[in-house]
Amino acid sequence: MTPPFELGHWHPILLDRDLGSRPKRVTLHGQDLVVFRTSTGLGALDDTCPHRRARLSDGRVVADRLVCPYHGFRFDKAGLGESPGTPTVRAACRSWQVALAWDAIWVRLDLGAQALHDLTPDASPTHKAPPLPTLGRPGFRHIGTLVHDVAAPLEPLVDNFCEVEHTPTTHALFGYREDALATLDVRWSADDTTVRVQNRGPQKPIPALVSRLFGVRGGDTFIDDWVVHFSPVHIVYDQGWEHPETGAPIADAVHLGVFFVPIDRDETRLVTVLFSNRAPSRLPGVDALVQQILRGIVDREVRLDQRQVERLADPSPDLRGTRLGRFDAPLREHRKRIDRLYRGRPA
Ligand SMILES: [Fe+2]
Repeated sequence: MTPPFELGHWHPILLDRDLGSRPKRVTLHGQDLVVFRTSTGLGALDDTCPHRRARLSDGRVVADRLVCPYHGFRFDKAGLGESPGTPTVRAACRSWQVALAWDAIWVRLDLGAQALHDLTPDASPTHKAPPLPTLGRPGFRHIGTLVHDVAAPLEPLVDNFCEVEHTPTTHALFGYREDALATLDVRWSADDTTVRVQNRGPQKPIPALVSRLFGVRGGDTFIDDWVVHFSPVHIVYDQGWEHPETGAPIADAVHLGVFFVPIDRDETRLVTVLFSNRAPSRLPGVDALVQQILRGIVDREVRLDQRQVERLADPSPDLRGTRLGRFDAPLREHRKRIDRLYRGRPA
């Protein structure tokens, strides 16, 4: 059986620091897999022993082999297994490609050229494996990666992260002043594989302490500029501020990538990779503290989005019957690209 097209994209599924010496089970699109550490790197296999279907994630790693908890079958990173009781029996477990980037463990299934061709007849049968997504910006440092599991399907969660109309009501510090929403400058454009949105308007009020720390004040011009990509589904944001009268840029700016990782139909893991352009302080400990505050601010704002999206009366991806406004124009564009580029359904 051909595996789902979605599994061919690179997905960040786990923070590296959350994987110890014991194997760990993760779920992607309803498919359980086991991730484990060996002396030569990370391995990821389907979480079912091909012998008698025990969960390999209940096992342990011995001499760089993942050992099944039931009858002790031993598997290497490529999924090749042998039986201690019947040495002539060989068993193979499907293995996943694994990568480590921005503190996260990424996996993808090699669907093979033929599988991709079956699903997307227009695609070349020599389709190459997608590269890891590109993140980062000159002058910006990676300062943390956050994970939030949201009890909502992919589309309504992406919808939330693709408009700023909810920022006055839903967010604490992040976003625009409520009285400026109607006149906010919002532009969007789309090409074959991406959708870009640029927003410009007055920043909502910020407590004095945060203003002092980051130099951004309520009423400064906030520019939220993002691009939505679809292999995997993720958004790359550039967020900065300008002085409202002079237009002079304010030093602190933020660059982030938000990845949408479907655990199953009803739950989506959000992985947020955060970058800052703030120069490291010479005072010991200050840098770590400022980074911690920034991560804390982002964590809180994402949790506010999470709370709102989890409380939708209807989390269906279907847009029929909704009453969309000027901020929602890209929603249909996302749907089309999620279907074609992420799910591999011909247009
Ligand atoms: Fe939000």
